Amino acid sequence: MNPTFIKVPNLFFSGAVALITVQQPPVVTARLGHDVVLPCELQDSQDEEIQTSPVLYWVDEEKHNLLISDGKYAGRIERTNQTSSNKSIVLKNVQWSDGGTYECKLSIRTNLRGSFRLKGNNTMLIIYGRFLFLKA
Ligand SMILES: *[C@@H]1O[C@H](CO)[C@@H](O)[C@H](O)[C@H]1NC(C)=O
Ligand SMILES: *[C@@H]1O[C@H](CO)[C@@H](O)[C@H](O)[C@H]1NC(C)=O
Ligand SMILES: *[C@@H]1O[C@H](CO)[C@@H](O)[C@H](O)[C@H]1NC(C)=O
Repeated sequence: MNPTFIKVPNLFFSGAVALITVQQPPVVTARLGHDVVLPCELQDSQDEEIQTSPVLYWVDEEKHNLLISDGKYAGRIERTNQTSSNKSIVLKNVQWSDGGTYECKLSIRTNLRGSFRLKGNNTMLIIYGRFLFLKA
């Protein structure tokens, strides 16, 4: 069995836009009262150049913008290094009411497509409390 390797030149893909994507895990669990990382990663493409620093938005299912950090998120959001492709945030002191879905969105500008928005596929945050182990 001799597999054949075919080297595909990049030109082959020149009609299709190689995708820049935003990746989020489908589920994250957090313990009540603890801090949790909500991961989000910008995966860029070799074929397309991002021209300005992407603008990051994190929204909950009620469309609250977590990064504005008023209301229920006040003082509980920490941004990580925004110059990297890592767009994760830290949600501190997790509450029961934080359970739900969170969307990571980016507004970006590239050489091929100008400005547009990209979003991840939502992360479901599941909160758990202190487990009680009862002796029999
Ligand atoms: C942030 O990330 C960039 C790119 O990965 C890196 O060059 C820079 O040193 C980082 N800054 C901090 C404060 O970690
Ligand atoms: C992104 O940043 C978060 C928070 O600092 C960190 O926990 C996570 O490991 C980083 N992810 C990657 C892929 O470096
Ligand atoms: C987004 O999530 C939905 C529901 O979990 C899934 O059906 C769909 O395939 C996902 N899309 C992508 C691009 O991952």
